[in-house]
Amino acid sequence: MKVKKAVIPAAGFGTRFLPATKAVPKEMVPIVDTPTLQYIIEEAAASGIEDILIITGRSKRAIEDHFDKSYELETELEKSGKTEYLAELQRISSLANIHYVRQKQALGLGHAILCAKTFVGNEPFAVLLGDDVVRAEKPCLAQMIEVFDKYQSSILGVQEVAPEDVSKYGIIKTEDVEKDIYRVRGMVEKPSLAEAPSRIAVLGRYIITPEIFELLENTKPGKGGEIQLTDALCTLAEKQPMYCYNFDGKRYDVGNKLGFLQATVEYALARKDLGAQFRTYLKELLGE
Ligand code: G1P
Repeated sequence: MKVKKAVIPAAGFGTRFLPATKAVPKEMVPIVDTPTLQYIIEEAAASGIEDILIITGRSKRAIEDHFDKSYELETELEKSGKTEYLAELQRISSLANIHYVRQKQALGLGHAILCAKTFVGNEPFAVLLGDDVVRAEKPCLAQMIEVFDKYQSSILGVQEVAPEDVSKYGIIKTEDVEKDIYRVRGMVEKPSLAEAPSRIAVLGRYIITPEIFELLENTKPGKGGEIQLTDALCTLAEKQPMYCYNFDGKRYDVGNKLGFLQATVEYALARKDLGAQFRTYLKELLGE
């Protein structure tokens, strides 16, 4: 089966980014001039995803407006001959078919994914988390879809993290299969370093088989009192083969202030229209 659908949970409060996220959804905070969520949606679209479900919550209307057509703005840009901006806006509103559903209560990532049950139906689907932005030559999800096509099983996108970061992630008990691919033999959500089965962390990219929904329906609140996707995946891995894939690319935790700054600097340096000037500025600033 082919992976054609993706789910992006975007219902969180963004507490780590207050006060910016009081009135603006955290997914709309821009890296350079592009909302973080747009990078995620571009990755999905460039990986062959046709339909995307965004799980939203209250005060997230700006997300829908951003990916919608804006007739007034487009007419203005056309009148004033700003064709470059016009083309960019039209491109954004036609990236993929975007659907929305609201998660009415913040009961955890597992519960958010359960809101996608009707949308997904009986197909394998991708999950991309908005706090994890990956810069890679081949889009991270496209790499994972290649692995899925070979194994036809759930695939988790992972990288090794520093010991001090282990307690921030879902950590995998792995068994070697081939280069960069491991069989998942267990998973723990945000363990202490002492409890962690490895330093291989799930970094916001998943391809999951639809059997997950029945398991999510029966998953009790876990770490932090939330219904954890990790717990349901752990049960799924006991019932059917599941693999993790060490994807190629640099991943930024843009939900964290330092990670957000790193992404901002590196994306700006990589921009054709800004990079050279910005590099000169940084060098001057650092007195080099
Ligand atoms: C979530 C998942 C965790 C995963 C992480 C990746 O945690 O629960 O397993 O490793 O995303 O960013 P969160 O960061 O939403 O607390």
